[in-house]
Amino acid sequence: MIRAVSGTRDILPAEVSAWHRVESAARSLFARYGYREIRTPIFEETALFARGIGAETDIVSKEMYTFEDRDGSSLTLRPEATAGIVRSVIENNLMNTDPALKVYALGPMFRRERPQKGRYRQFHQVDVEAFGFAGPGIDAEIIEVALGYLEACGLVEVDLVLNSVGDPACRPAYVETLRAALRANLAKLGPDSQRRTETNPLRVLDSKAPEEQGLIAALPRIADHLCPACREHFGEVRRQLDLVGIRYRVDHRLVRGLDYYTRTTFEVTSGALGAQNSLLGGGRYDGLVKELGGPDLCGIGFAVGMERVIMTLPAAEGERRCDVFLMPLGAAAQDKALRLQRALRGAGVRVLLDPEGRSFKARMKLADKLGARFVAILGEDEIQKGAWTVRDMAGSAQEDVPEARVLDHLKEKIHG
Ligand code: HAM
Repeated sequence: MIRAVSGTRDILPAEVSAWHRVESAARSLFARYGYREIRTPIFEETALFARGIGAETDIVSKEMYTFEDRDGSSLTLRPEATAGIVRSVIENNLMNTDPALKVYALGPMFRRERPQKGRYRQFHQVDVEAFGFAGPGIDAEIIEVALGYLEACGLVEVDLVLNSVGDPACRPAYVETLRAALRANLAKLGPDSQRRTETNPLRVLDSKAPEEQGLIAALPRIADHLCPACREHFGEVRRQLDLVGIRYRVDHRLVRGLDYYTRTTFEVTSGALGAQNSLLGGGRYDGLVKELGGPDLCGIGFAVGMERVIMTLPAAEGERRCDVFLMPLGAAAQDKALRLQRALRGAGVRVLLDPEGRSFKARMKLADKLGARFVAILGEDEIQKGAWTVRDMAGSAQEDVPEARVLDHLKEKIHG
């Protein structure tokens, strides 16, 4: 028996309506803010992610699904959407026609992480990116979009965490200060943090190791090392969030798992999730477009984990899968039912009948299970009368509807 690969899961028919809801919430909300959909390939050249996300990150160093193509080139299943979107923006010169470019994407991402509740190897993101906005206004707006999206999905009990990670003018000096502080305490760090002290000291701030927490809390904070421009930018983002009444907490340790961020970073978590509590994360990445060979164009965005949003939603009630269930009894009735079924479907009514012709009782049970609003019965008595018996499944009331009227009658009942 072949099973689904570890860390992948089937989205079964009963779950799909929840997916449709969160997908259509994305499309309708983002359109109100001027975002248009972009669809990029699921695999890209490996170098795109190595350069874009950063060779030292966990994602690139140990979580990518990378394979050699038949011509020897190295390809990778996308672990996130931002790098591919940036490549597409550059390759298609999208900023020439649209200097203030706002796009979103939906789709599967792949990371070889240790699977657990809320963490998969194939998962889905709703991703939002805005290019060409240098000022702090877009930072506040995009955070509003992120929270608005969760709210549109039905999630309001969430926590927003915010930080600024500086820019090339101030971060390198901070990183050195941090490295020096870590080197002075190397013996108190575990092997991962010791290694990261040299390769990427910011990552140490992310450490969850309990024995390192005291030391990390006492490390120099980036907030005290921001250059005046970054400090002013961050101050204005916060002022605008305050202005529109968005509540947040500043966390100096929020560095995020991707290297492209500059200035504002943010994450939204939910207490309703377990250890994997991050619903979405994002930030500004002003150097990435240039780093990937494009113009000096700033960018900002975020991505939502769709599985995590759906896990947090209250369970949906049973869904109605059919409006009208037809119940012909006997061969003559069956032929009339087939014609009526086709006409009703043509009129946009969701109609089913049981082509296997099971017993009356079994078919009534099936109609109930499918959530049918009406059952239309045509037996010998009805054929004699020239009328269908139409039963309203909610109140069990039934009426006789002449054959010539039954199509219009059911159409009116369903569509009003
Ligand atoms: P990220 O924080 O790596 O950011 O991922 C964003 C969200 O994707 C997470 O908050 C989480 O909900 C979901 N996610 C990540 N990994 C998994 C997983 N293994 N299983 C289930 N859900 C997961 C990014 O991907 C950036 N590209 C976001 C961004 C866009 N920054 C700027 N623009």
